[in-house]
Amino acid sequence: MTLPLANPELDKPLVLVVDDDADMLTMLVRLLSRKFDCRVEKAVSGEAALAYLDRNRPDVIITDLRMPGLDGMSLLTQVKEHDPEIAVIVMTGYGNVELAVRSLREGAYDFVEKPFDQERIVHSLERCLERVRLLKENRYLQERLSSKKVFCGLHGCSCRMQEVFDLIRKVADTNVTVLIRGESGTGKELAAKALHTLSRRAAKPLITVNCPALPAEILESELFGYVKGAFTGAAQDKTGYFLEADGSTLLLDEIGDLPLTLQTKLLRVLQEKEITPLGRTKGRAVDVRVVASTNQDLEAKIAQGQFREDLFYRLNVVTITMPSLAERPEDIPLLARHFLQKYAAEYDRGDLTFAPATEQELLRRRWKGNIRELQNTVKRAVLLTTTPQITPTDLSENGSSPEETPAAAEPRPILTGLSYNEAKREILTRFSREYLTAALLQSGGNVTAAAQSSGLGRQAFQRLLRGYDLKAESFRDDKP
Ligand SMILES: Nc1ncnc2c1ncn2[C@@H]1O[C@H](COP(=O)(O)OP(=O)(O)OP(=O)(O)O)[C@@H](O)[C@H]1O
Ligand SMILES: [Mg+2]
Repeated sequence: MTLPLANPELDKPLVLVVDDDADMLTMLVRLLSRKFDCRVEKAVSGEAALAYLDRNRPDVIITDLRMPGLDGMSLLTQVKEHDPEIAVIVMTGYGNVELAVRSLREGAYDFVEKPFDQERIVHSLERCLERVRLLKENRYLQERLSSKKVFCGLHGCSCRMQEVFDLIRKVADTNVTVLIRGESGTGKELAAKALHTLSRRAAKPLITVNCPALPAEILESELFGYVKGAFTGAAQDKTGYFLEADGSTLLLDEIGDLPLTLQTKLLRVLQEKEITPLGRTKGRAVDVRVVASTNQDLEAKIAQGQFREDLFYRLNVVTITMPSLAERPEDIPLLARHFLQKYAAEYDRGDLTFAPATEQELLRRRWKGNIRELQNTVKRAVLLTTTPQITPTDLSENGSSPEETPAAAEPRPILTGLSYNEAKREILTRFSREYLTAALLQSGGNVTAAAQSSGLGRQAFQRLLRGYDLKAESFRDDKP
C-alpha cells in the first residue's frame, strides 16, 4: 500500500498507540498530542489496531509487546506485511533485551523499555517522525523525477539494484546496525554513504575505519581512544573513532579482518552503547550508528573460529547484499555510459562515444573487479583513445586476466590510408598514452614512483604528461 502522492508539508502525521492498559493509553495520547503537531489515535488491543489499519494509514504505531490476545510482536509482523513503511516503536518490559532485538529484526524502528521516562518516548517519536517526513519527501521527489536509474550516487536500472535502493531507503534513517556484503568493487562503500546521507545523522560526517589497515593494538586505540599516559607513548588524550562518530555513523570497512580481541570489545560497545577509552575505568555513552562491510565469507570465518558468531548476529540485524556485475549485466551499458560521460567531461573529450562493438565487448567481459574495474577501464579508454569513438582496442589491458583478453587477438589500429609519418605519429601517441597511463595506474598517481619505474627523471615524466594531456591526480581518487 502506498500513500497517495501529496506535498509532504501539507500532511499531518498520524500516530496510533496500542496498549491494553487504559491509563497508559490516556497518558501517552495526552503527552504525544501535546508535544507533537500530529494526530494521535489509540487502540486497546492488537486486534483493534489491525481493524483500525483496515480503514486508516498511520505513519507510526507505538505498541506494547505484552498484551492478551494478539501480542505486540505478532502485530508488528502483520503491520510489516501490510505496509512495511509504517514505522513501529515497541514498548518492552524492563530487561527484555532479547525480545527488543528480535523486534528490531522484525522491522521495528526502535524500542523503549518500560517503565520509561517521558523524555525517552518523546525523543524516539521525534526521530521517527523526522524519518517519516524524509520518507514522504523522498517519495514525493522520486515520483516527480520518476527516474530510478541513480540513487545517492549509485547507478543501476536492474531489479537487483532497485531492491538495494529500496532497502537502503527503508533502513537509512533507523538506528539498526547494517551489514553490507558483496564482492570487491560492487559499491559497498557507496551504499554505506547512502545510508548515512539519508539519515538525520547526515549533518555530521560519516566516519570510516578501514579495519585491515592497522595492526590490532593501534586499531584498538584508534577506535576507542585513550587518555594521556595510558601507555608509553600516549602523550595526549586521543578521541578515537567511536567518539568522533558520536551522533553520526561509523563505517567499519572490511569487518572480516577485525582481530578477535577487538571483536569482543566491539560487541560490548554495541551492546552497552558506551565506550571506555584506554586508561579510563568509567565508560562513556555514545550514540553511534554502526554500518559494517565485508567481501568475506563470514559464515566460513565463524566455522573456523575467526569471527565471533554473536558479533555476526549483532551486526547483521539488516544485511544489504550488493549484487556483482555478473548478476546484473543490464547495468553494464548504463554504468559504462555514466563513466564515459564523467571522464569525457573531466578530460575535455566531450563528444566521445562507444563504438557499438565496444559496448558488446563490455558486456562480454567478466568483471571480476566489478564496477571499480569497469570504471577504471572506461577511464583508461577515455585517456587512450585518439578517435571520436572508443573502439574495443581501447579497452585492452584493463586488469582482466590475459587468457580472457589476449592482447594478440586485439585488432591493431587501422593504419592503412595514413601516410608513413601520420601512422607513426598515431602509433607513438597511442603508445605514449598507454605507457604513461599504465605507469600512473600502477603507482596510484604517484609521479615520482611512476617516473622511477619508467627509468625517466621526474621532470621529463611531467613534461610527457603535459604533452599528452594526462593528469596524475586523476589516478589518485580510486583504488588501482
Ligand atoms: N552503482 C554504482 N554506480 C556508480 N559508481 C559505482 C557504483 N558502484 C560502485 N561504484 C564506483 O566503483 C568504485 C568502487 O566502489 P566501492 O568502493 O563502493 O566498492 P566496495 O564494494 O567498497 O569495494 P571493496 O570491496 O574493494 O572495498 C567507486 O569508485 C565507486 O564510486
Ligand atoms: Mg570498500
